[in-house]
Amino acid sequence: MINLRYPIIEDAEDFFRILIEGRFEFYYATIPESIELEREWIKRREYKRANNLEYNYSIIYEDAVIGGCNIKIFQDSPHVGEIGYFIDRNFFNRGIATEVVKELENIAFNDLKLIRLEIRMDPRNKASERVAIKNNFKKEGLLKKVMKFENNYYDNLLYAKINEE
Ligand SMILES: CC(C)(COP(=O)(O)OP(=O)(O)OC[C@H]1O[C@@H](n2cnc3c(N)ncnc32)[C@H](O)[C@@H]1OP(=O)(O)O)[C@@H](O)C(=O)NCCC(=O)NCCS
Repeated sequence: MINLRYPIIEDAEDFFRILIEGRFEFYYATIPESIELEREWIKRREYKRANNLEYNYSIIYEDAVIGGCNIKIFQDSPHVGEIGYFIDRNFFNRGIATEVVKELENIAFNDLKLIRLEIRMDPRNKASERVAIKNNFKKEGLLKKVMKFENNYYDNLLYAKINEE
């Protein structure tokens, strides 16, 4: 149903619209202030991949960009990655993020050869928690004040999956 591919410059307008119109609650990512800055952000993705820092993907559904997702590599423990995702509000609750995580898990364990994959979310972000649960990630606990965003500290639930292969 969905495809993932590396972001291209032309995705900037879609990312910008989805993030601005989304007014997402409990989502702690800095949103670029303009489409031009979004383009700059997309240009830096290649460097991030080349240096095994982060792997970003555009989420494509019926030829349109409907979200973004990523796997961030823990630089102190490069066998560990963390998944992130956001979806166009017009496409919520259709199982898209659940399918995205399945794809990212495949990339993480089969291509990147990671051993451990995490998903962290604000405990109030029930949709994100459902996505982790539906993909059989196991709840490991609550990380108190682990997330700093705009000078506030937030708790995160920690969900993880181990590549048992
Ligand atoms: C989190 C997010 C990616 C989920 O995307 P999605 O494509 O709607 O997810 P899915 O359809 O695969 O699954 C959503 C599940 O959450 C449930 N859900 C949605 N809102 C909910 C709420 N307020 N309370 C409880 N469950 C909720 C849905 O019913 C569905 O579960 P179900 O299949 O058991 O019915 C999307 O809401 C989003 O982009 N949010 C903003 C960005 C964000 O928070 N990213 C995650 C940061 S950790």
